[in-house]
Amino acid sequence: MQEIRIELTKSPKQKPAAQSQLGFGQLFTDHMYIMDYHEGQGWHDPRIVPYQPISLEPSAMVFHYAQEMFEGLKAYRTEEGRVLMFRPDRNIARAENSCKRLCIPPVPADDFMNAMKTLVNLERDWIPTEPGTSLYVRPFIIATDPHLGVHPSHSYQFIIILSPSGAYYASGLNPVKIWIEDDYVRAVRGGIGEAKAGGNYAASLKAQEKSDAEGYAQVLWLDGVERKYIEEVGSMNIFFKIAGKVVTPALNGSILPGVTRATCLELCRAWGLEVEERRVSVDELVAAARDGSLEECWGSGTAAVISPVGVLRYGDEVMEIAGGGIGPLSQKLYDTVTGIQTGKLEDSFGWTVEIK
Ligand code: COI
Repeated sequence: MQEIRIELTKSPKQKPAAQSQLGFGQLFTDHMYIMDYHEGQGWHDPRIVPYQPISLEPSAMVFHYAQEMFEGLKAYRTEEGRVLMFRPDRNIARAENSCKRLCIPPVPADDFMNAMKTLVNLERDWIPTEPGTSLYVRPFIIATDPHLGVHPSHSYQFIIILSPSGAYYASGLNPVKIWIEDDYVRAVRGGIGEAKAGGNYAASLKAQEKSDAEGYAQVLWLDGVERKYIEEVGSMNIFFKIAGKVVTPALNGSILPGVTRATCLELCRAWGLEVEERRVSVDELVAAARDGSLEECWGSGTAAVISPVGVLRYGDEVMEIAGGGIGPLSQKLYDTVTGIQTGKLEDSFGWTVEIK
């Protein structure tokens, strides 16, 4: 593991007084982490420096061909002042898969973990403590070769920035309204849908704009071939409770393997619920909504945590779920996941990592 050089800021910023107004990803801490990659030299020169703009050639490949990946995870401060990260090993493993898919040299796992731990520890006073808040950790890698040929870059930067954040949705834990999109698609099998790549999110913007205009918080994507099977929501995976069973789309190559998705599955199985990872058609959902067997729906994601869905709209069909409120299983998952993340509940799964 490489030693990190640390340059402290000479002008620390004011920390936000009103944690309830933080919003998501709008404010950044005093420092950031950077490490460079050059072919023949590998990953080198890890450093923590004051948060600042980065300087790149206009020809840097990331600007032209989107050779980029990112991760998202959170750090929490417990009531006793301990700092916990939630399942960072999962994000590191997923980052490695994203890198492989995008021809980016993966960052060695121990350097990745050490980078996050050192930066979060340095910025521990920035971690907000009010319910629903956390320090959002955003690692990303960009291709920096100043070259317009289409090929994998020979140089990269791995950067981590930190953002004290509140709830992802302005509505907090209140149920969101989701638009099922049957025109635009996010990803296809064989594409980059299961990688955490910026390009997937660029592809999502047009439909997001459409759903915004209709008063919906996010888009639920259908598969890119038949536009018939449920995939995922803009920034989260999706779950249903249908006739007593927990159902979520199986990871089929175009769906992001969410860490909170895995957490929901493990919790539901541990609670003895029947859980199915399989293909779910939109027709099945509409039928379940009509006959009353669609009991609950929620999204899972690092930023969104557990986000109950109160309304799903597919064409002219408006499906109200759990009376538009928060279903009991969604609430139990939210309480359990956030309880473990913030150290209020015992972590019998060993999911949290203490930073010290
Ligand atoms: C996350 O949940 O961490 C994500 O990366 C979703 C993001 C696009 C806000």
